[in-house]
Amino acid sequence: MNAVAIIPAAGRGERLGAHLPKTLVELRGRPVIVHTLAVFERVAGISGVILVVPPEFVDVYRRVVERYGMPKVLAVVAGGATRTCSVRNGLSALPSEADYVVVHDGARPLVTVATVERGLHLALQAKALVAAVPVKPTIKVVDPATQVIRQTLDRSLLWEIQTPQIFERALLERAYADGAEATDDAALVERLGVPVKVFPGDYDNLKITTPGDMPLAEALLAREESLGLRSPASRPVKQKEKSARRGGKRRPGSIKNGED
Ligand code: C5P
Repeated sequence: MNAVAIIPAAGRGERLGAHLPKTLVELRGRPVIVHTLAVFERVAGISGVILVVPPEFVDVYRRVVERYGMPKVLAVVAGGATRTCSVRNGLSALPSEADYVVVHDGARPLVTVATVERGLHLALQAKALVAAVPVKPTIKVVDPATQVIRQTLDRSLLWEIQTPQIFERALLERAYADGAEATDDAALVERLGVPVKVFPGDYDNLKITTPGDMPLAEALLAREESLGLRSPASRPVKQKEKSARRGGKRRPGSIKNGED
């Protein structure tokens, strides 16, 4: 298996109320995206990472990747107006040798190495699987016009779907081929009639969405680091270290200009 991660991080962060894309906002002194990328750097089964970012911030993210030394990042490409467009742009930057794709939201910095590894291990037996947790609250369908409850769903059947979402590359490309839109990748694969399985995610793997999520994410990261469950995301790489890593030379094409 040659698995490459696509990390969509091209959201505007409007619900977060930040003036920056949400994955550039700092958590424990480092941009959110650095925490996310640091996890993928540590997963042995991931051979490379395609990072998808807002078009006008491509250079900013390239500098962040350089500054924190993320050698697995193969390309930083421009995203689109929706998450689906962004992942589609990521797909077009995949290297030819990749046969599995792991899609993971850039705004989920609390994902663990263990979760990604668990998914990759299970993917040896499956073409499509997504991290998920059983829902804890009661979920109801509410009429948007009248706010009257229409239906109470059977909680024992409900799962909160997260990322990582792992797919055989050809299958994911087929799912994305016709321009359909969805809020996650699995939904596009489900439409093809292909079974998509869930595997155990983690309740702490929250997606940073609203301002209240930042202190929560900060506290969870601090707790995991202090218990030794997570190594702190890398510190910025100094210029000298950078040239030593490259043997004194810039790796040509190490970060491609991926706008399309
Ligand atoms: O918008 P939502 O919270 O579902 O975003 C999930 C992930 O998709 C985030 O990491 C966000 O940056 C990314 N995204 C994207 N392009 C968009 C919208 C969201 O890459 N146009």
